[in-house]
Amino acid sequence: MSSADLPTPGTSPTLPLPSVRPRRLRRTPALRRMVRETQLSVNDLIYPLFVMAGEGEKVKIGSMPGCYRYSLDLLLREVQAVFELGINAIALFPVIPEQKKDDTGTESYNSEGLVQQTVRAIKQAVPEIVVITDVALDPFTTHGHDGIIDENGVVLNDPTVEVLVKMALSQAAVGVDMVAPSDMMDGRIGAIRKALDAAGYIDVGILAYSAKYASAYYGPFRDALDSAPKFGDKQTYQMDAANAREALKEVALDISEGADIVMVKPALAYLDIICQVRDYTQLPVAAYNVSGEYAMIKAAGQQGWIDEKKVILETLTSIKRAGADLILTYFAKEVALMLR
Ligand code: PBG
Repeated sequence: MSSADLPTPGTSPTLPLPSVRPRRLRRTPALRRMVRETQLSVNDLIYPLFVMAGEGEKVKIGSMPGCYRYSLDLLLREVQAVFELGINAIALFPVIPEQKKDDTGTESYNSEGLVQQTVRAIKQAVPEIVVITDVALDPFTTHGHDGIIDENGVVLNDPTVEVLVKMALSQAAVGVDMVAPSDMMDGRIGAIRKALDAAGYIDVGILAYSAKYASAYYGPFRDALDSAPKFGDKQTYQMDAANAREALKEVALDISEGADIVMVKPALAYLDIICQVRDYTQLPVAAYNVSGEYAMIKAAGQQGWIDEKKVILETLTSIKRAGADLILTYFAKEVALMLR
């Protein structure tokens, strides 16, 4: 049909003129920018980084293209670089060699451990960046669970919380800004808050992995850390993917116990949970765009099946639109570059 064949507006006998035309506000890029509801910003991003022992080494993570395990010296350069790109915060995860692991994860609170050394060094080199450390035993236990197990393989809650408290204190002692318990033991936020306060670390914050689901999307992360559980799975402590009300129960508990920021993890299959948590609390809400979510986009991008950069921006925007104020994402550095 040529434009000459188009009817003059208002003259069609069958179609009345629409009285509201939403497309008016989509007509030009400037109009679209004016009415855009969600703005992704570098301030929203927290960059997870993997540190390992050694020097001058940067090892690719097979299932997470573009992510590396860094030795401390190279990690410091990376932290400096991302801070210069405007990223305010990093979340640290250690790769612990097998010989330093044991049944109860004692290496987790070694004052000269890898995390502790790394935090000290970052606080020397890039003092302004917000350093967040993971509080959970899985990188440190021979069995790969986030807690202490009994002879039947049951993860014991209260003895685990005691170790988590020691771990958080040892991280506070080296100057971390926030600790992030990702273990899903009951009562750990309150126990950690109480211990931090009693030791005088009143300004060390808690980013609580409040609604953390037992998810198959963590696979690549477990490759990165060699931390996959040696038996069973994490369903007795991480949440059932089918539950939404329970997420609010967990969030409520963590808030009452002293969390400063609450988190939903993973992000994409749980956007409804992010939305509900956002409505429920006045605290900042974080979401973890996890390793499996990252790997799927990278894999499809490498195949040329999707426009990777656009999919990354659309994905992170959707997480923010759902209600997350903060997004932990392995895309942080790439996105910081894109947003420049
Ligand atoms: C460990 C922890 C995990 C992640 C963050 N902290 C894995 C797990 O619970 O098994 C997953 C992060 C990701 O997949 O990107 N407690």
